[in-house]
Amino acid sequence: MILQAENISKSYKLNDKTIPILEHFDFIADAGEKIAVTGPSGSGKSTLLNLLSGLDKADSGDIRFKDTKYADLSKEQMTNLRLTAFGYIFQAFHLISTLNAADNILMPLAARKKKVLYSDLEPICKKLGIENCLDHFPHQLSGGEQQRVAIARALIGNPAVIFSDEATGNLDQKNSIQVMDLLTECCSAQNVALIFVTHDESLLRYADKVVRIPEVQPHES
Ligand SMILES: Nc1ncnc2c1ncn2[C@@H]1O[C@H](COP(=O)(O)OP(=O)(O)OP(=O)(O)O)[C@@H](O)[C@H]1O
Ligand SMILES: [Mg+2]
Repeated sequence: MILQAENISKSYKLNDKTIPILEHFDFIADAGEKIAVTGPSGSGKSTLLNLLSGLDKADSGDIRFKDTKYADLSKEQMTNLRLTAFGYIFQAFHLISTLNAADNILMPLAARKKKVLYSDLEPICKKLGIENCLDHFPHQLSGGEQQRVAIARALIGNPAVIFSDEATGNLDQKNSIQVMDLLTECCSAQNVALIFVTHDESLLRYADKVVRIPEVQPHES
């Protein structure tokens, strides 16, 4: 086990009403495992990713990374865990528009104050086929290239887990397949657990396990 959620619940408050999203939900990921998270829009897929990655807190239940319970960590320790153990990939790429591709990829390491050389980028960028785009700014890259830069950024710090929220949602089918092929190949090579949200049933074949989030029926509280 590398990541586990036990009996977690999460609701949001909106105009005095409590809207349950996840109720008594369990989740487990092993090292290097590829897990697809799917379910209807609004069912709580992004919410689950935010909880598992420590960006948001569950109302109840426990989440742990290896032996570390999130509830036992200070805010600073949680930030440190996110920076050292996790990588993130989003539908909208979220590259910094004023930085070129190389500096975007190195961002997480800069936040960790880790010394790196541009030559450290070479193997991963070659594998992702972006070695010739490293001095391009995001607006000079295609969507597929931007997402491959985002994959390099997620992998550069040798994370244990990558969280991907609809990473291929803005890409056409050809680019979606290329991005998923590369992402899953890189995760396998580095034994990184990949937790990926998708609406696209055809991408479930990349998963070792599929987690379906049911829509919680609204009830008064
Ligand atoms: N910060 C928030 N405050 C209030 N409600 C929220 C908040 N974040 C999410 N929600 C609500 O919680 C529900 C689940 O949202 P979430 O983004 O997790 O869904 P999702 O499964 O990722 O949907 P999609 O497939 O459309 O991305 C939605 O109804 C959403 O409106
Ligand atoms: Mg979502």
